[in-house]
Amino acid sequence: MAAHISLKGKRHACILFPFFAMWSSAWAVTRYSIPEEMKEGSVVANLAADLGIGVGSLAEREVKLDILHSKKYLDINKDTGELYIVEKIDREYICNIKTSSCFIKMDVTLENPIRIFNFEVEILDINDHAPHFRKETMHLDISESTAVGERFSLNNAVDPDYGSNSIKTYYLSESDNFVLDIQTGSDGSKYANLVLKKALDREEEAVHNLILTAVDGGVPARSGTASIIVRVLDVNDNAPQFEQHVYSVNVSENSPIGTPVLKLNASDLDEGPNADIVYSFTLYTSEKIQEMFSLNANTGEIKVKSVIDYEEIKTLEMHIQAHDKGTMIQLSGQCTVMVFVTDVNDNHPSITITSLKNTVKENVPVGTVIAHIAIRDRDSGNNGVIDINIDQQLPFALNKSSDNEFALIISEPLDREKVSEYDITFIVTDRGIPPLSDNETITLELLDINDNAPQFPKSFCTIPVLENNAPGSLLSSLSAFDPDLHENQYLVYFIIEKEIVNTSMSMLFSINPENGDLYAFNYEEVKMFLFRVQATDSGVTPLSSNMTVNVFILDENDNGPGILPPYSDQGSVNTESIPYSAEAGYFVAKIRAVDADSGYNALLSYHIAESKGSNLFRIGTSTGKIRTKRRMSDNDLRIHPLFILISDNGDPSLSSSLSIDVVALESKD
Ligand SMILES: *[C@@H]1O[C@H](CO)[C@@H](O)[C@H](O)[C@H]1NC(C)=O
Ligand SMILES: *[C@@H]1O[C@H](CO)[C@@H](O)[C@H](O)[C@H]1NC(C)=O
Ligand SMILES: *[C@@H]1O[C@H](CO)[C@@H](O)[C@H](O)[C@H]1NC(C)=O
Ligand SMILES: *[C@@H]1O[C@H](CO)[C@@H](O)[C@H](O)[C@H]1NC(C)=O
Ligand SMILES: *[C@@H]1O[C@H](CO)[C@@H](O)[C@H](O)[C@H]1NC(C)=O
Ligand SMILES: *[C@@H]1O[C@H](CO)[C@@H](O)[C@H](O)[C@H]1NC(C)=O
Repeated sequence: MAAHISLKGKRHACILFPFFAMWSSAWAVTRYSIPEEMKEGSVVANLAADLGIGVGSLAEREVKLDILHSKKYLDINKDTGELYIVEKIDREYICNIKTSSCFIKMDVTLENPIRIFNFEVEILDINDHAPHFRKETMHLDISESTAVGERFSLNNAVDPDYGSNSIKTYYLSESDNFVLDIQTGSDGSKYANLVLKKALDREEEAVHNLILTAVDGGVPARSGTASIIVRVLDVNDNAPQFEQHVYSVNVSENSPIGTPVLKLNASDLDEGPNADIVYSFTLYTSEKIQEMFSLNANTGEIKVKSVIDYEEIKTLEMHIQAHDKGTMIQLSGQCTVMVFVTDVNDNHPSITITSLKNTVKENVPVGTVIAHIAIRDRDSGNNGVIDINIDQQLPFALNKSSDNEFALIISEPLDREKVSEYDITFIVTDRGIPPLSDNETITLELLDINDNAPQFPKSFCTIPVLENNAPGSLLSSLSAFDPDLHENQYLVYFIIEKEIVNTSMSMLFSINPENGDLYAFNYEEVKMFLFRVQATDSGVTPLSSNMTVNVFILDENDNGPGILPPYSDQGSVNTESIPYSAEAGYFVAKIRAVDADSGYNALLSYHIAESKGSNLFRIGTSTGKIRTKRRMSDNDLRIHPLFILISDNGDPSLSSSLSIDVVALESKD
């Protein structure tokens, strides 16, 4: 409200140019000072009073203010003579920003009579503008290798206000790396430079966001800000690094080609090509290992490249480097990869027969060593543990002599006559999963020993011979059997001499020494011969056995029954008498007969062949006793003719007969 007005003096002059006015300042021009931005209506001064013009005449003298600028900022109140603000005055608008003083020169014109007064209104600056950056964001790209102390000029802020209301200084938000250096230009304006205080590290902070604040000197001070975005440009100052110095990895042998082993991952804190990593084997990695494994230069992947054999190599070491693709210089890092090859059951167990007897005598003692066997498996662990077996049924056993060696020994007595040859199969099996096995077969032949005596089928032999057998005919073949071989089996037969009566047996019988066929020469009246036949083999220590032979002469039915007295055979009639009153079972007669043959040929039976008229009589089949069957009756004949047949039991049977007339008498006194 209250304007700050200072009255410098009053004079009037005709001023055409502001420039000129400076020179005419000594003329005591009426001058007012007001701050810019006064409110409309605010009274600056009583111009009428200051110029010595009567207030009452203003209206009639048509007082008028000349407007020097396009805008009508001030006017005079014709009633009071007061100069007042019509429109806000912006010093920065009216005057050149950097002029130290700003005036509005005005003329006051009165008519009747015409008079012109000059006056000036000095517009004093107020801090009505804040400092302002034309670009709110400044971008700076600074390499991380930039030396400390390097300066970077910044866009300055502007403040239209004048003097102390203009920019007084700059502030920078807190930063470890940057400080501001503020310089004052010849015109008093302030310039801010960014100075690197501490070296940048992109890997620590790739972008620095700073706030630059410009502050003016007004009271209160006003400020404006801009952001500075510092992008730190990468320098290849970091080497690639592996997570570990040493990697350990297990690879099983025989892994298929292409099997992934390990993926290396080196990291490089830099960016762009400075962080692009290329993997390679170093010179310390043997050619052989490089042939076994492939390394992908870009991905760091290690894969199996060729067959790995545990039995050949168990542990191997790769030295690998990773280098970046920095343009000026390339940095690298190293690591070691330890590969432990794990065993796979890929080797069959093997058997080696180190010594062998192909033949042994059948009487070889139990415990005798037949063969030495060595077993082997190139795998390790359980894959290389071998079990060896042979058929449990065989009379052999394995006796371990060392870790991998065995002796095959005889565990039970052998007998060539039972088994003459053995096939012995050794089966070796390892304990891998799945197990692998192999086998080997040896053949053992048993040599014969004369351990068996010849054997006759029976120890006793009965040979029946017909009595009319032709002399010199074959009686029987008395061959014996010897299970041994060759000469141990070759038999010789002979009759063991023994005298019967006064005759040597060999005069009666002969035996073929080669096959045991027995022949008879002749017989005397002797019916039976008992002697022994012996068979002897031809072994070095011959063995023999004997058989008892019983030869007996068989009877032939060449004699018919002969009837003994008092009866005689057919042709003559014999008579017997019995009482008429004879009871049943009455003994009539006994027929007796003999047969010169023997055995069945001499076994006789008696029959009544025909009985005319009646069946009054019967005869004992074996006794030859004739008895009555019943009492006689009046109807019966007085004379009963009987025809008796006597037969032997030979084949064919021979028989004799006789006739007896039995006469019944009234009284037998
Ligand atoms: C390699 O195998 C062994 C046993 O065979 C085991 O103890 C070890 O942990 C394995 N290592 C890796 C890296 O798998
Ligand atoms: C490599 O390691 C980094 C961290 O060390 C990880 O971000 C990145 O994914 C890994 N890359 C591969 C392919 O494993
Ligand atoms: C098995 O071998 C051991 C020595 O290796 C020996 O003492 C033992 O008598 C042998 N056993 C047989 C049945 O041969
Ligand atoms: C012995 O090995 C052969 C192959 O080498 C096999 O065919 C046979 O079955 C094996 N015999 C035994 C008894 O394991
Ligand atoms: C047997 O010989 C003895 C004498 O050595 C003699 O006395 C006897 O009569 C003979 N017997 C026969 C049946 O020839
Ligand atoms: C006949 O063999 C038996 C055993 O079978 C023997 O005791 C006997 O001495 C032998 N006889 C002769 C004459 O060799």
